[in-house]
Amino acid sequence: MGLGAKLRRVRRQAFELADVCWDDIGFGIIPTDYMYVMRCPRDGEFSNGTLEPYGNIELSPSSGVLNYGQGLFEGLKAYRKEDGSILLFRPEENGVRMRMGAERLCMPAPTVEQFVDAIKATVLANKRWVPPPGKGSLYIRPLLMGTGAVLELAPAPEYTFLIYVSPVGNYFKESYRRISSPPIESWVFVHEGLAPINLVIQNDYHRATPGGTGGIKTIGNYASVLKAQSEAKEKGYSDVLYLDSVHKKYLEEVSSCNVFVVKDNTISTPAIRGTILPGITRKSIIDVAVSLGFQVEERLISVEEVLDADEVFCTGTAVVVSPVGSITYHGKRIVFEQMVGDMFIVGYPMEMAELGLCPNNSTLFLQDYKW
Ligand code: COI
Repeated sequence: MGLGAKLRRVRRQAFELADVCWDDIGFGIIPTDYMYVMRCPRDGEFSNGTLEPYGNIELSPSSGVLNYGQGLFEGLKAYRKEDGSILLFRPEENGVRMRMGAERLCMPAPTVEQFVDAIKATVLANKRWVPPPGKGSLYIRPLLMGTGAVLELAPAPEYTFLIYVSPVGNYFKESYRRISSPPIESWVFVHEGLAPINLVIQNDYHRATPGGTGGIKTIGNYASVLKAQSEAKEKGYSDVLYLDSVHKKYLEEVSSCNVFVVKDNTISTPAIRGTILPGITRKSIIDVAVSLGFQVEERLISVEEVLDADEVFCTGTAVVVSPVGSITYHGKRIVFEQMVGDMFIVGYPMEMAELGLCPNNSTLFLQDYKW
């Protein structure tokens, strides 16, 4: 056996893996070993979380979450490094965002410390489900929901914080692998499954309204886009790009991710004004883009502007950084090249640090817990 093969074997033996066909995983639920559960009365505090075997939960038919949608979710990922250790991507940011959403929905929430500890415990308990390097990630789904029984419209009397996980591959199904010439010499471009997506802008449905809950990760925001999304998919599009509901003119976001528009050396993204989810990948990309020397603007972006862009890409935990291949508006299809977004695809989130290509301040996005 050659040295390379021996090394690969040693590395493989360094960590135990679940019996999964790692080359075939997409973005679907794969049940894992454990979930984390922590409960709290309305006026109390969360404490005594436990790891339980992953499985169905018992819920009152009159629970707040089932009847009035009093629920939030988060999404974050754990990645496996070559040496077997596991990285989490900015988990405290999710903890902070969950607390903001909980405040808006009148729910108690775990502290950021409790949140991060619970994430670590859940990932650790399920560590054999973290895919091998380069084969995907472990998607972590924290939920916060009103599980107490309530009939009148009021906050539920009891809350449950639950975390489950699933190994995932690419969110958008079309997958490809290509090597393209880098705009910055010495950068190695290897894309895995990040095919350009085709979006449609339509004005019959809107995702959020001013004063509503578009800026938090409440479950209702996602049920409300299912119809627009499924109509778009029936017509062959990957997803919908929503416009604002007042002027019906300014970009908001895609059903499951934020959007960025590139023109010349300027990268713009819709400003956070209560109707757009403050994405953690969005925030990270802004920081990295600034440190790479791009002009970054958070502002109103009109639909005309996006149609005239050099490049468009989407960001989110699930979609990572997805290049947009085309946008269709009023039956007209505009096709985009991919250049700037590619840089982030290459660099995001681990390879950048590992190849030593990232600007110093972007390394802090990585939390290497060295389990
Ligand atoms: C995520 O990116 O984690 C999301 O919440 C999107 C989800 C709708 C899959």
